[in-house]
Amino acid sequence: MKIMVGLITLLCIACPTAAHETAGARHWEVASPDPDRIFLTFHGDPATSRAVTWRTDKSVARAYAEIAVATHAPSFPEAARRYDATTEALTLDDNGKPFNKTTHYHSVVFNELKPDKLYAYRVGDGKRWSEWIQFRTASDQAEPFRFLYFGDAQNEVHSKWSRVIRMAHRTAPDASFAIHAGDLVDQAHADHEWAEWMTAGGHLHAETAGVPVMGNHEYGKLMLDGQEHPRRASIHWRPQFTLPVEESLPEELHESVYTIVYQGVQVIVLNSITKVEEQAVYLKQKLDEGNYRWRVVTFHHPVFAPSRGEKQSNTRDKWKPILEKMGADLVLQGHDHTYARGQTPRRSTDAEPKDALGTVYVTSVSGPKMYEIDQEGLGQFQQQHGLVTAKTAENTQFFQVIDVKGGRLEYRAYTATGSLYDAVAIEKDEQGNKQLIAIPIGHE
Ligand SMILES: [Fe+2]
Repeated sequence: MKIMVGLITLLCIACPTAAHETAGARHWEVASPDPDRIFLTFHGDPATSRAVTWRTDKSVARAYAEIAVATHAPSFPEAARRYDATTEALTLDDNGKPFNKTTHYHSVVFNELKPDKLYAYRVGDGKRWSEWIQFRTASDQAEPFRFLYFGDAQNEVHSKWSRVIRMAHRTAPDASFAIHAGDLVDQAHADHEWAEWMTAGGHLHAETAGVPVMGNHEYGKLMLDGQEHPRRASIHWRPQFTLPVEESLPEELHESVYTIVYQGVQVIVLNSITKVEEQAVYLKQKLDEGNYRWRVVTFHHPVFAPSRGEKQSNTRDKWKPILEKMGADLVLQGHDHTYARGQTPRRSTDAEPKDALGTVYVTSVSGPKMYEIDQEGLGQFQQQHGLVTAKTAENTQFFQVIDVKGGRLEYRAYTATGSLYDAVAIEKDEQGNKQLIAIPIGHE
């Protein structure tokens, strides 16, 4: 017996995580030497590069990623190229659990990839590897593609958001990326909530590039050594997402304000929580840049909040005039825990016909927290801003699939059960004139 106890004690000392420390934890919260929370992002041209980030316990000091063109034959790893990872430690605040107090996040940017090719990659420490995970690089041409968009996940993420992200990928398994429009979790620095978000998406997060957007719940006060520190962005954000850095912007906005150009479509990601005026300059610059067929902008706080009406809104005051003047086509938002799609008239010149289609705005929600629609508020938006609300919903979890097909952009909102709820196409001619075309739902 004595020998047994001694052996168990010895084994526990050797273990990276002692069993008693993890009591009460869900097994997927606990970091180990095996890679978990593997998350694919864009970093550079989506046709030739991609970034991956993953977590281990702190015993893994050196990590690697390997990548090869995927082939039918299982011998594809023979041609794999190895990358050294950048490793950074994440130490949690006072609410962090002892077994995850300090973990390691590793990241690699794959570059010099070939356009429109299926690749397989794996991550690990050289001995303990993930599975080989496949993704396709973007084409270098403006070919058709589709992407996903999710409103707030935020609450009961493991329990009730998981079904939404999984149904989304069953509906559009070939989606090129997934926009998460803020409030991914409820408490910015709570590791167990990020564990839920990462677990709910599982391998989907590793296969399909994520485009995360900062929400107000990604900001919170930090408790360190019994001291309260000011509200700040989630301590998880930068370690766990490897995102483009816009050097022209204040450091605080790095990796939460960025732009992706995917097969001729510009996607601008903004952070509606802070430094909104600085981002107005950035937004204007970006919308003025290039000759893209479609321009999509995503941020958390809606320009036209479906449940809160005319209350003060930074995004309406500071960004809406630019979005409309510069011709943003589609604005994807969250925060209001309802569903609404509407559009404002075109305002790029004073000579526009009054009813010419301008910008389409969508607010959506993917998690289970629900608010009610304020019809009176939507009426005020119509009177004051010309917003025509086409479709609303309450008490429904949604995901959206957006198809880009040359001069036609098709937008579909599906419920958590996979039912099509709302569908419309925007058609744009070579002169930039647009019209909304109804897609009959019953005929899908
Ligand atoms: Fe929010």
